Amino acid sequence: MAEILRDGSVFHLRNDQISYVLCEMPGGVLAHLYFGARLERLNAANLLRRADIPADGSFTVQECALDRLPREYPSFGLGDLREGALTVQAPDGSQAVDLRLERAELLDAKPALEGLPATRGEGCAALRLTLRDAHTGLVALLDYAVYDDCPAVTRSAKLVNEGSAPLNVERAYSLCLDLPDDGWDLITLPGAWARERTVCRRPLVAGHQGVSSRRGASSAQASPFIALARPHATQTQGEAIGAALIYSGNFMAEAEVSQFGATRLLLGIDERDFSWELQPGESFRTPEAALVYSGRGIGGMSYGFHRLWESHLLPKRWMNRPRPVLLNSWEAAYFDFDADKLLAIAKAAAASGVELFVMDDGWFGHRDDDTTSLGDWYVNRRKLPGGLEGLGEQVRALGMQFGIWMEPEMVSPDSDLYRAHPDWRLHIPGREDITARHQLVLDMGRREVQDFVVKVVSETLRASGAAYLKWDMNRNFTNIGSAALPAHRQRETAHRYMLGLYAVMERLTAAFPEVLFEGCASGGARFDAGMLYYVPQIWCSDNTDALCRLEIQRGTEMVFPASTMGCHVSAVPNHQTGRVTPLETRFAVALGGSFGYELDPARLDDGERAKLRAQVAFANETQLLRLYGRRYWLQSPFGENDAAWMSVSGDRSEALFTLVRRMARPNAMPPLVRLQGLDADRRYRVVETGEVFGGDELMLSGLCCPLGNGDAAALVYRLRAEA
Ligand code: GLA
Repeated sequence: MAEILRDGSVFHLRNDQISYVLCEMPGGVLAHLYFGARLERLNAANLLRRADIPADGSFTVQECALDRLPREYPSFGLGDLREGALTVQAPDGSQAVDLRLERAELLDAKPALEGLPATRGEGCAALRLTLRDAHTGLVALLDYAVYDDCPAVTRSAKLVNEGSAPLNVERAYSLCLDLPDDGWDLITLPGAWARERTVCRRPLVAGHQGVSSRRGASSAQASPFIALARPHATQTQGEAIGAALIYSGNFMAEAEVSQFGATRLLLGIDERDFSWELQPGESFRTPEAALVYSGRGIGGMSYGFHRLWESHLLPKRWMNRPRPVLLNSWEAAYFDFDADKLLAIAKAAAASGVELFVMDDGWFGHRDDDTTSLGDWYVNRRKLPGGLEGLGEQVRALGMQFGIWMEPEMVSPDSDLYRAHPDWRLHIPGREDITARHQLVLDMGRREVQDFVVKVVSETLRASGAAYLKWDMNRNFTNIGSAALPAHRQRETAHRYMLGLYAVMERLTAAFPEVLFEGCASGGARFDAGMLYYVPQIWCSDNTDALCRLEIQRGTEMVFPASTMGCHVSAVPNHQTGRVTPLETRFAVALGGSFGYELDPARLDDGERAKLRAQVAFANETQLLRLYGRRYWLQSPFGENDAAWMSVSGDRSEALFTLVRRMARPNAMPPLVRLQGLDADRRYRVVETGEVFGGDELMLSGLCCPLGNGDAAALVYRLRAEA
């Protein structure tokens, strides 16, 4: 059970796994004392002595360097010389803020975050600390929650201008975590288009290190996540601490190792393209950040995040619910289709048991390539003479659901929308637009743009009767400026965009609760906890090559559970790499997430089509285990020839094990892989071989995995506990 204990000036947030302790210093400065495995109690004097702070209560900010104090929500300029979490410009031009605790409240319910995605508050204990800067009248409400069922604490800050003059918020991070030492490795997930979320681990060094995005979205190049792991920590052993931001726009995630060898983690909206005007009485809310602690390795940290998102963040109506096996038309037809061609693909898909047919890009305006028509969300009758209604009906007549692609946040310069509303795009007056993929970005911060998007998406869903919408977003932001904001507020544009996008997602997912929304951004360039509050799954990458996908899916699962990853079997030679891999291996890898196809089954031979039928049946039969079981990574694909993972059901009666070998090795013994998460006292039958092994021997001795010859070989085993 989560609880918050108060002992004088010490606040202790804990559950049966973790403790998070902070303390009010004399004068009201907030110190951070501990985040780690659960403690019974903590004597603050012990930790404060390290920072040279007298235990007798004679602490003063004047003489005692704040630079040594571990802090909760620091600002720069008044003694703490490390990076701060908050910078606010006062009317006198100064940037210093000195927040002192005024009030502490244990809340009955976790407050909602106005207009932002955030964890739901069921099964948590919540604390609000109110701090004030006497000089400016700025008030900061620091909201914390600790959960019954996961080793996590979430935080966000609400800034209120209770002064009489306008203030300008220039940096408002969501999280600061001061840790007493620097004996950690830093883990981040850098990447690129088609190479999203590579696991990068390196020792912390003195000074600043981290990742950020200024691309308008959380991005393929960086993920709003930062973790520390003890140098000896493995997947199953040692301490790890992760921080993830529930936000989909520009962010900064940084670790700073101080001159004293202490580590400060900071996470929040990137300040370089941000500021926020606060008139007297106005407020600003930071996105929520989640902190997870594991004493059981990096896998324990990942599991902590998976549990947090599954129990408290992902759309409830999709949790533990089967996802339809889908076939997406993109790699099957690209822009080159008409209704007959789509129906032929859909028919072949239906014959394989596919449950949902998705029409990707190219159905609207006069879009035959990517140079035109974004914004003109009316059907191209030349391609689809029966309209969306007609095609939707014909697909449903095949016994499948119909799904559709849209990219609603964008506009093509060649579009009726652009011609009617040129000022709806992000732009800087007088400067040439920078297009990317021949498109411009709509200014989602504007209410009229939001209303337009809600209208066209609603009309499209209604007309097509679609049960699924792929929501795409395919470019980085440039020319970031809004025609709706005065010059001195232009730096609010990117965050206002995100608030507008979230408002739209809120309206649409409420209006169409039964529609399955799948996020996408040139593949996985906006794969973050912010989007996952609205959409239960996101297209993991445009790279569908089975071997590349090993790394992409492994990196994504560092933070996000299997059910959130869209994973499809595609044709060979693979369209991104040119590589040919066996159908079985493409299948084994795509089973790692929400399963589907990205090919034209009509182009397969009879034998392959028969395999597809068996695959769809297998994917369905195993899907609750695959999507919602506990995921264990047994062997990482990074730097290794073999990758192995497994999913184990909550009651440990079932498991699904997958091994993929990149390159065949001559004259080698078959791999012996030690499994995890089974019940040591039960016996498990390997369905595919009929053999029975003890859970203990599978975990301690291992499972021998004979792979066939050839590169990119895979093996998938179902394990069932014997009665
Ligand atoms: C993006 C997506 C693809 C596809 C295309 C369509 O690149 O990631 O899956 O939908 O757009 O233009």
